[in-house]
Amino acid sequence: MKAYRAALLYFKPEADPRQSVVYEPDGLLVVGPNASGTQVVLALGPYATLQADYAQLPVQHWPGRIIAPGFVDLHSHYPQTNVIASPADGLLPWLEDYTFPEENRFSACEYCAQAAQFFVAEMLRNGVTTALTFATSHPASVNALFVEAQAQHLRWMTGLCLMDRHAPSSLLNQPSQPGRVDATEQSLIDSEELLQRWHGVDRLGYAITPRFAPTSTDAQLRGAGELAAKYPSVWIQSHVAENKDEIAWARALFPASSSYLATYADFGLLRQRAVYAHCIHFDDADRTLMRDSGAAAAVCPTSNLFLASGFFDYASADRVGFKYGLANDVGGGTSFSPFHTMLAAYYVGREGRGKTGLSLSPQQLWWQHTAGAAQALGLEGVVGNLLPGCEADFVLLNPQATPLLARRTAQAATLDELLFSMIVLGDDRLVERTVISQAV
Ligand code: GUN
Ligand code: ZN
Repeated sequence: MKAYRAALLYFKPEADPRQSVVYEPDGLLVVGPNASGTQVVLALGPYATLQADYAQLPVQHWPGRIIAPGFVDLHSHYPQTNVIASPADGLLPWLEDYTFPEENRFSACEYCAQAAQFFVAEMLRNGVTTALTFATSHPASVNALFVEAQAQHLRWMTGLCLMDRHAPSSLLNQPSQPGRVDATEQSLIDSEELLQRWHGVDRLGYAITPRFAPTSTDAQLRGAGELAAKYPSVWIQSHVAENKDEIAWARALFPASSSYLATYADFGLLRQRAVYAHCIHFDDADRTLMRDSGAAAAVCPTSNLFLASGFFDYASADRVGFKYGLANDVGGGTSFSPFHTMLAAYYVGREGRGKTGLSLSPQQLWWQHTAGAAQALGLEGVVGNLLPGCEADFVLLNPQATPLLARRTAQAATLDELLFSMIVLGDDRLVERTVISQAV
């Protein structure tokens, strides 16, 4: 067992996320192993109250610092680190001109390993401790990310990108023994093998990953849906309703479905633990489908602003009531920093010409990137919070990290002002340390 003394920031259970942040200016966080040997939170609260109960424990004291839950990111592409900052007219030319050529390089194991190491290090440096991440259509790219996440003891999810049409031929899933099974069948065999190798090992999880409906045949989507039914605890990740041209393409390819989102439902790919990136151009039938299926939206604001995809409609999402959380969507997204992502989400929320504009509270923004994102993944009470029982992944924030942060946070008269100062002015410098729950 071990204890940490600093300010504490976490979320009350069963509370309205808009108001549920608890800030304890001088707190104690006590961690120790659970029955399976993972370090979890055993107790937290005011130092003055808890200190006597844990007087024998070694205490790490971090004066002037804030302990907060590690950030949870719902959607990113580890093979797209080198694609950040590549402008294009829109999603489809961006995929064609920058993304597919870079993903092609992941046919080499060494390239995958090096990229996975850089990506995970960058996520951790920015305070992201759990993520649902795309790999490429090469099985080696999946293994490389799992190997790296396992080495760092992370709770992390990824899976083989399924694409059997409408992408450069070298990027389509490949048959391993030409003539025996076709590429589509092979992609499903490879997915199941990777799933059996990695899902539930340490803190790792497998995600069935059709890239998006336009790059899969009916047969591949059907097979993915069958895998999803056979393995209900695995995740599903894909993209939907990001861009108008993409939607027109998906509608033309799957005319029998009632909408682009409904295409996924028709193949059994909408359920709990299914996370769809973007979800921008939805109507209420789509929102109801999301709510009723238990699927969640990964809101990717820096990406949506950069690629001019559109603005996630928070008011309509809340009116219908489906799950969502935040994501950096590197490399369509422009930053690994959760602070940049939360600020961009604030701008997206404010946009009020094409939808209702809202001023999202800083508590709501922070929740979307921690406890709310964990809930979207079906990992509520596991990550994204510091309540007793949660795995002990946390960030140590230094509100004095820059002169401007120090000056502004010192003036914060309320919790909302303190949180907003960090969201608006924060970046990787605010994250002094990222602490991961170590197996014992
Ligand atoms: N839709 C299909 N693939 C992608 C991708 O790699 N990035 C984004 N932003 N959208 C996609
Ligand atoms: Zn994406």
